[in-house]
Amino acid sequence: MEQGTKPVYTLAEAREFIEANRERVDGTYRNQYHLIPPVGWMNDPNGFIYYQGEYHLFYQFYPYDSKWGPMHWGHAKTKDLIHWEELPTALAPDEPYDQDGCFSGSAIEKDGKLYLMYTGHRIENGVVYQTQCIAVSEDGINFEKYAANPVIDEKRMGEYGNIHDFRDPKVIKKDDSYYSIIASKTEDDRGLILLYQSDDLYEWKFFSVLLEGTHDQGVMWECPDLFHLNGKDVLIMSPIEINPRGVEFHNTSSTVAFIGQMDWETGSFAVENDHEIDFGLDFYAPQTTRDSAGRQVMIAWMQMWGRTLPTDLLGHKWAGSMTLARELWVENNRLYQKPISDVYQSLKIIEKQTNLVIENEVRKYHSISTNNRYYQLTLGVSQADAFQVYLAKNKLGGLVLDFDKETNQLTFSRKDFGHPITGSEPSQLTERTVILNGNKIELEIFMDTSSVEIFVNQEKTMTFTFYEETLEPNLYIEAKGILEVPLLEIGCVQV
Ligand code: FRU
Repeated sequence: MEQGTKPVYTLAEAREFIEANRERVDGTYRNQYHLIPPVGWMNDPNGFIYYQGEYHLFYQFYPYDSKWGPMHWGHAKTKDLIHWEELPTALAPDEPYDQDGCFSGSAIEKDGKLYLMYTGHRIENGVVYQTQCIAVSEDGINFEKYAANPVIDEKRMGEYGNIHDFRDPKVIKKDDSYYSIIASKTEDDRGLILLYQSDDLYEWKFFSVLLEGTHDQGVMWECPDLFHLNGKDVLIMSPIEINPRGVEFHNTSSTVAFIGQMDWETGSFAVENDHEIDFGLDFYAPQTTRDSAGRQVMIAWMQMWGRTLPTDLLGHKWAGSMTLARELWVENNRLYQKPISDVYQSLKIIEKQTNLVIENEVRKYHSISTNNRYYQLTLGVSQADAFQVYLAKNKLGGLVLDFDKETNQLTFSRKDFGHPITGSEPSQLTERTVILNGNKIELEIFMDTSSVEIFVNQEKTMTFTFYEETLEPNLYIEAKGILEVPLLEIGCVQV
């Protein structure tokens, strides 16, 4: 970084810094089978693509601190979405049009080359300008920024939206055309998704307003993605300050799936249903890709804006993680998620029990691993009033799933467990809830060193981080009434 009026970042310097500092990172809370940065800060997944036989994932990256800073694009690849290989940093904010950050974007393959479309973020006299830029690679590792960047700027953005909040392009191909879906906002602070069209990825023109939000739906929409799945069109995005609705949307920034129909003649999206994508505390900016097996795979940033981050406060020199990859499908106008099937190849089951009955008591089960654990639980609640499943316990609290039959609510809490995490929400959020129906509850739980992802009835997910150093390798199930447990599996993900 040169010391001048403005710092000038270079790729070479970022790569050197990573090599010189990777050993200085504190490993205490580093996840084992989720993608995390080698050093420094990570946020949104970017450029998720299946390219030349491997999945590539880029991410918002600031190598120099465990806090957000001028964004680079970190890069990793994987064959199975579990074991990740780090690749050299792909983009640095080294051009006048992106000097304050290479913000989020996406990837697409054309004629064997890998194209990235990202947002150039620059601040002039205290005012933010966001434009869309292209970088191209022949080997999937080294990228060259297009000489005529930006490809969509104030002149080409059209009459809608706002150049100061105009970001996160997701490029898709439809028939012989390329489209880019870009987030912006209206003058009166409502979310707006704009659609652009191109024949060659370099020349872009405004096509339409794809969707415009209401005042209830947040002040800005970030990171949109659009795909066709099971006969429906799905638009996902991350709204800032969307209003809470029942048990949904309690974080400062949320994620939402709009299910409906896309009209490609007019470029508008007709919404038939919408719902929150994940019911946890740490899930944001999800991005999807369609792989060679036809799966729509989603990965999100497993953190939340506006919260304190223990690895930063503790000086561990890194922060942020991606979720497990999840496969999506649409049924009854809802978006469903299941763990990516590849994870089962790496799963080691150490104990399997069937047809347990737990009646007004607490049972304790052991795992061999303290901080990488997998549980599968089927629970029959027709004769149970309530149950609690403790994934971990300490003197004050625990990581606990709490079910109440009367309300059919399943709540996950990290209250008083591990390093405190405080946030900008009106009241300190330490738990989230989902509402279930039926007498059978199927849970699949993936715990890594500092994260828990709970798949509930292969429908809803709850994603949380936690930072507690000393975990005992036990699972406790407590029942009020008669809890049937047709299946309990305990294992871990082999890395
Ligand atoms: C979402 C986001 C994006 C932006 C990026 C900057 O988390 O705010 O809208 O491109 O992060 O790092």
